[in-house]
Amino acid sequence: MKQGEKNTNRKEQHKVEQVVLITGASNGMGFEAAKLFAERGWQVVAGARRVEKIPEDARISALKLDVTDSASNQAFVQTALEQFGRIDVLINNAGYGEYGPSEEISLEKIRYQFDVNFFGAVELAQLVLPTMRAQKSGRIINISSVVANIYMPFGAYYEATKAAMNQWSDALDMEISPFGVHSLIVQPAGTESNWNAIAMGNATQNLTENSPYEPAVKAFLKAMEKIGASSATSQDLAQIFYQAATDKKPKLRYFNAMSDRLNVRVSKSHPRLFKKVMGNMIKGRV
Ligand SMILES: NC(=O)c1ccc[n+]([C@@H]2O[C@H](COP(=O)([O-])OP(=O)(O)OC[C@H]3O[C@@H](n4cnc5c(N)ncnc54)[C@H](OP(=O)(O)O)[C@@H]3O)[C@@H](O)[C@H]2O)c1
Repeated sequence: MKQGEKNTNRKEQHKVEQVVLITGASNGMGFEAAKLFAERGWQVVAGARRVEKIPEDARISALKLDVTDSASNQAFVQTALEQFGRIDVLINNAGYGEYGPSEEISLEKIRYQFDVNFFGAVELAQLVLPTMRAQKSGRIINISSVVANIYMPFGAYYEATKAAMNQWSDALDMEISPFGVHSLIVQPAGTESNWNAIAMGNATQNLTENSPYEPAVKAFLKAMEKIGASSATSQDLAQIFYQAATDKKPKLRYFNAMSDRLNVRVSKSHPRLFKKVMGNMIKGRV
């Protein structure tokens, strides 16, 4: 055996397999990310309520997961640890949009929106952190949205969950980076998946009978259709998740397109102009 081959074999033997946990892996970005990480040689622990829709692969362990259920979250993390003994990356991806008039959405639905999009991510982060700190390495990648900054009418509670996620992730990152662990945010804009159909379906379903908001919701739905729901594919976003997981120096924010980053910047630097433009969505001017 030549010297080079010997070294490669030794390296292969000592190469630790990276382990990623992905929530919401039955569709869209989570589904594509599970496939991508598996293709790149990672061990993937993928969770969703519709476990049968998670991609099948020798490197993907598909687990039933409801992120609003503490026992389910604990079993998810515990199973990953029993199977692989380490956790390198957690991707908090599960989420949906409870769109509709802020005045008319029930508090029960608003709480559930926070349970899925925010508290599920928080609980899973708390569950993986002891392992990551002991390893002195690990990343928590939180899938937020550009609407954490670029807010729209009729998306108030969804946007609030994503804004909360951004703020939480940044504060958490300061606390855990001394242990070699990081918390990052990915902010997708409109992306092909089931997300839009669910969110826009909710916008209509959440209208009460004879709602004074009906014309504005209709104008909003029309404007959304005109703008076009998606400028990216779920595969594009899976690539961004992978970049966030593997960048030598992790960034606090990841965007798919330069225009997404710029739109977020403009919303912060020109708040009045931004509000006026977004307000046009319900005045039939888009
Ligand atoms: N698509 C967009 O335009 C867009 C833009 C910005 C941000 N995002 C965010 O990107 C993330 C991925 O969304 P997507 O576009 O891929 O949407 P999607 O196609 O609707 O997929 C959402 C995933 O979340 C899972 N999920 C929902 N509730 C869950 C729960 N209680 N427990 C566990 N899993 C749950 C679903 O699985 P089950 O139903 O099988 O549980 C599904 O796999 C979400 O956080 C979303 O808010 C999406």
